[in-house]
Amino acid sequence: QTSIGICLLGCGVVGSGVVKLLREQRELLARRTNLAFDIRHVVVRDVAKHAAGEGNLPYTSNAAAAIDDPAVQIVIEVMGGRDPALAHIERALKLGKPVVTANKSLLAERGPELFSLARKHGSCIAFEASTGGGIPIIDAISRGLVANRIDALVGIVNGTCNVILTRMTRNGWSYHQALTEAQKLGFAEADPTLDVSGRDAAQKLALLSGLAFNARVAEKDIQIEGVADLQSADIKFAGDLGYVIKLLAIAERQPDGRLALRVHPTLVSKSDVLAEVSGPFNAISVYGHALGHALFYGRGAGQMPTASAVVADLVQTAIGVVPLAFKKLNIFPDAAEPAQILPA
Ligand code: NDP
Ligand code: HSE
Repeated sequence: QTSIGICLLGCGVVGSGVVKLLREQRELLARRTNLAFDIRHVVVRDVAKHAAGEGNLPYTSNAAAAIDDPAVQIVIEVMGGRDPALAHIERALKLGKPVVTANKSLLAERGPELFSLARKHGSCIAFEASTGGGIPIIDAISRGLVANRIDALVGIVNGTCNVILTRMTRNGWSYHQALTEAQKLGFAEADPTLDVSGRDAAQKLALLSGLAFNARVAEKDIQIEGVADLQSADIKFAGDLGYVIKLLAIAERQPDGRLALRVHPTLVSKSDVLAEVSGPFNAISVYGHALGHALFYGRGAGQMPTASAVVADLVQTAIGVVPLAFKKLNIFPDAAEPAQILPA
C-alpha cells in the first residue's frame, strides 16, 4: 500500500465531512486504490476549539509550514473565501503539489491565473466539489461529454436558494425562516448573501460554461438576479398559474456563436422535471449535440455529498487521472479566449 500525505486547509462543514469519509471508508479506498490517505495537518483558525471538540487530528494554524511539509503530497482547500485561501493554493502549486478545492468563488475570480500557475509548476487543480455538491458534473462535462459540442446548460445549482424556494412553496415558510434552516444545515456560504444574491450560482455557471464552451467566462459576464426580493405572494401567484419559481442558471450558445448567460428566478411549469427538484438537491441539464439532453441530479450542497466529491478528486489526483487530464485535455487552457457574450 502507498501512503499519500494530505494537508487539509479548513475543517468546517466540508472539511470535517472529508475527515469522516476518509476514516469511514479507509478499507474500501485501500481495497479499490491500494492507497492509504494520511492526514498530516489540519489547518484551522481556532486550534483550541477544534482540539477540545474532535481531538485526535493534527490541528495547526500554521498553514505555510503545513503546506511546505515534505510529507504532504496533496493539499485540500476547503476554507472558502479569497484570503488566505488564494495564497495557500498558490504556495502549494508553486511547490508542485496538486490542489483539490471546493472554492468556486475563488476559481470564478482567479481561475485563469491559478490554472496557469498549476501548469507552469507541473501541478494541477481538481475542483469537482465546487459545483453541484456531490454530483460529478465537472467530470461529466470535461470527460464524459468531451466529444459533444455543448449547446446549453440549464440548472438549479444553489442548494440554499432551492431550500428557501422549496420551503416557501411547499411549507408556507417565510424567506427568513427558510434561509435560517439552510444555514443551520450547513448548506449556505459563510456569507449567505453570496447564495441569495445569485452570485454563488453565477460563479458555478462561470466554471461550468468555461468547461462546456472552452471559453473564459467570468462572473461579471453573467446577468444575475437572486431570490432575496421574492415575496410569498410571488410564490402564491406563480402556483395559482401552474408554476413554481426556481433559481435557474442558464448558458446558451446563440446561432452566431455568442453565449447568453444568466441567473434569475424563473417560472417553471409544475409538470417540468425541474419543478420536482427540492431542498438542497441540484439538477443540471446539459444539451450535447451527440448525446442530446442529459440531466444530472443529486445533492448539491451539504457535508457528506460535498465530501464525496472532494474525496473522489483526492483519489483521482493520487492515482494520476486528474494530473493527466489536466495536461492532456486543455481544461481551462492558458490561451482560452474571453467568451463572446450576448449583452443582457
Ligand atoms: P465552513 O465555514 O464550515 O468551514 C471553513 C473552515 O475553514 C473552518 O474550519 C475554519 O476554521 C477554516 N478557516 C477559514 N478561514 C481560515 C483562516 N483564515 N485560517 C485558517 N482556517 C480558516 O465552510 P464550509 O465547509 O461550508 O465551506 C468550505 C468551502 O467549501 C467553501 O469554499 C464553500 O463554498 C465550499 N462548498 C461548501 C459546500 C457546503 O455545502 N457547505 C458545498 C460545496 C462547496 P475554524 O473552524 O477554526 O473557524
Ligand atoms: N452554498 C452553496 C449552495 C453550497 O447552497 O449551493 C454548495 O456549493
